[in-house]
Amino acid sequence: MDENQTRTHASDTGPRASVDHASGAHSGFDRRSVHRPIERWLIVIAGLIALMVLVGGMTRLTGSGLSITEWRPVSGILPPLTESDWNDLFQKYQSSPQFQKENQHFELQAFKSIFWWEWAHRFLGRMVGFFVLFPLVLFWRRRSIEPWMRRRVIALLAFGALQGGIGWLMVASGLVDIPRVSHYRLALHLMMAYALLTFTVWTVLEVRYGRRSYGAAEPRFSTQLADANTQSSHTIHGRPQRVTGRSRFTLVHGLCVFLALLIAQLTYGAFVAGLRAGYLFPTFPKMGVEWLPLASMPTCAESAATGRACDPTLALWTADAVLVQFVHRWLGAAIALLGVALAFLGATRARSPRSVWIAFGAAVFGQFVLGIATMLRFYTAPVAYGAAHQAGATLLLVATTIALFHARRARAYDSAHATGTATGTAPDAALLDKAIAPVGNRALATRGRVA
Ligand code: HEM
Repeated sequence: MDENQTRTHASDTGPRASVDHASGAHSGFDRRSVHRPIERWLIVIAGLIALMVLVGGMTRLTGSGLSITEWRPVSGILPPLTESDWNDLFQKYQSSPQFQKENQHFELQAFKSIFWWEWAHRFLGRMVGFFVLFPLVLFWRRRSIEPWMRRRVIALLAFGALQGGIGWLMVASGLVDIPRVSHYRLALHLMMAYALLTFTVWTVLEVRYGRRSYGAAEPRFSTQLADANTQSSHTIHGRPQRVTGRSRFTLVHGLCVFLALLIAQLTYGAFVAGLRAGYLFPTFPKMGVEWLPLASMPTCAESAATGRACDPTLALWTADAVLVQFVHRWLGAAIALLGVALAFLGATRARSPRSVWIAFGAAVFGQFVLGIATMLRFYTAPVAYGAAHQAGATLLLVATTIALFHARRARAYDSAHATGTATGTAPDAALLDKAIAPVGNRALATRGRVA
């Protein structure tokens, strides 16, 4: 592909590229097959990031996260190879607060078992970096990657490197006095990983389906559009369609609210993990025998001793294990309710593949049930339940990203229709159907009901 071609593709706005709306002619450009290697490469990167998150969770759950007490970004790639390397590392570990306060009974063999988790986590991080960098150079040299994709991958590399630094900042917080990492830093590290994953999955979807809407412009919900929506109708595959902008607005924005709540819930999950609050109150729905056992909060116990009233200040809602667990439980329930409602709405009303909504609904409901199981069983099997619940959170985030992408796409498609029918400027339905066919999402064109 020559530079001109690359530029042409760069200015394309997805499926529009295959149809010239003015003339109605097809350009013959099948973007799906042109970009397939890049799509596959990005899917593997997304998988590797998800694996990184899982190995990071295992590192924490097995108590291995503080076993390597130094940060050597380049030379640290090599594991200890000789007995003297091992002794050297073990000696360093022996001067750490974790060894001195919790693991004094550790022999070299026990140290090795926690070392490998942390080493694997760091090693995998480097491997992801290489796996992003080298194919990028290759695609770039062959001029087979569009400029916008290039920019995304470079951003991924830069933020991935930053994530390595944040990881070290987190570990460093557990190497002073108390052998526990700051739960705020742990949350930052986890949320950054999730941001990278979401960014990669979104890019995969854009590479696969195109970046923008169909039609001349993607109008935002406005009075004009609302008028157009209520007045207009058009046909798809010979069936009359009625476009109702207001309900499309609800689904996309409902998902945005859901995503905001999910981000808060993931952050609180990291707080629960970092404060080891999962070991408290293995009961559901009540915490022990109360709904909110304020008296169990350390600060309230102190207040009771001095006869003062207990005052759970705002700061404590992110720092006290009891309050943090309380928020995580009930925010989880709210998310489950909203998620199942949105999945139902999407599956029955949205012009997008039903499988997307079924997967989204299953992920949100499954994660809620898994959360309760984790709460009840964490004390007896922390690694198994902790890892499964964390993997469930990752799947839910991916399912939400995909659902939001499809809902926005369906909205853009309907908006193009609605505006065009009102103003007589947009391509007709048959042309839009053709535009969609090459990117494989026939649901847009064939679903009768419109969200
Ligand atoms: C429904 C949405 C939910 C999401 C997205 C979610 C997400 C998370 C995340 C990301 C973590 C941290 C995992 C880690 O860093 O390894 C976590 C931890 C935890 N969550 Fe949830 N959670 C949800 C619901 C619940 C519910 C309803 C409960 C209990 C009733 C619960 C109980 C726990 C417990 C006990 C932990 C600590 C596990 C550990 O220390 O590894 N979660 N959650």
